[in-house]
Amino acid sequence: MKLNETLENLRVSYQASSLDIGDCHQDPFEQFNKWFDESVKSMCDEPNAFVLSTIKENKPRSRVVLLKGIIDKAFLFYTNYESAKGLEIENNPYASMNFLWLPLQRQVRIEGVLSKVSEQQSNQYFQKRPRGSQLGAIASPQSKKVSSRQELEGMFHQTERKYEGIESVPRPSHWGGYALTPHYIEFWQGRSNRLHDRICFQKVNNQWELYRLAP
Ligand SMILES: Cc1cc2nc3c(=O)[nH]c(=O)nc-3n(C[C@H](O)[C@H](O)[C@H](O)COP(=O)(O)O)c2cc1C
Repeated sequence: MKLNETLENLRVSYQASSLDIGDCHQDPFEQFNKWFDESVKSMCDEPNAFVLSTIKENKPRSRVVLLKGIIDKAFLFYTNYESAKGLEIENNPYASMNFLWLPLQRQVRIEGVLSKVSEQQSNQYFQKRPRGSQLGAIASPQSKKVSSRQELEGMFHQTERKYEGIESVPRPSHWGGYALTPHYIEFWQGRSNRLHDRICFQKVNNQWELYRLAP
């Protein structure tokens, strides 16, 4: 079968669940918590993985990263501050996050503003990471060109040697957390006949307003 024919014939009917304004917590973080719990219980693969979109010179760029916490009403992830995304965020802190939990036929869209978390918070999490991940974060110049796999592994082994015998690997200053403070959160539940449920939380005058959007 040709690719386009295959694509045209791929069709899933969404009937797993429903969502109404009355079903939602008034606090979108509570609602996120509930859906996240359900995605963990439903054995969704890497339920904390989400697509992060940032802006580079007015053009969007996306990649997957992992949610590592919700603190002070903000969504937290860790990365290299000197990576492509790090530089993009430096220039424009507006970003969006998109979670897809296919087994539950759910999507959550979040839009907001990113800021770096405290050094203390980044240190704390860095110390919890496996040693190999710590060394990788130090060694890898994320998003920079490298000539070969060999060069990359060479940088890792050099870092491994540097910290040989040192029990606690210090967090490099180029690595740490960002937290996204949202002004929009949308919960999407697939329904039959493509009449999906979209319940949105919009921050207006420091209050969350709830409304439904057409699918
Ligand atoms: C499942 C998954 C999880 C990932 N988690 C992270 C993460 O938490 N932090 C990170 O910096 N990159 C993570 N990545 C790699 C990013 O997608 C991306 O390749 C990298 O951050 C460089 O992006 P950039 O060049 O746009 O900065 C993950 C990739 C996948 C597929």
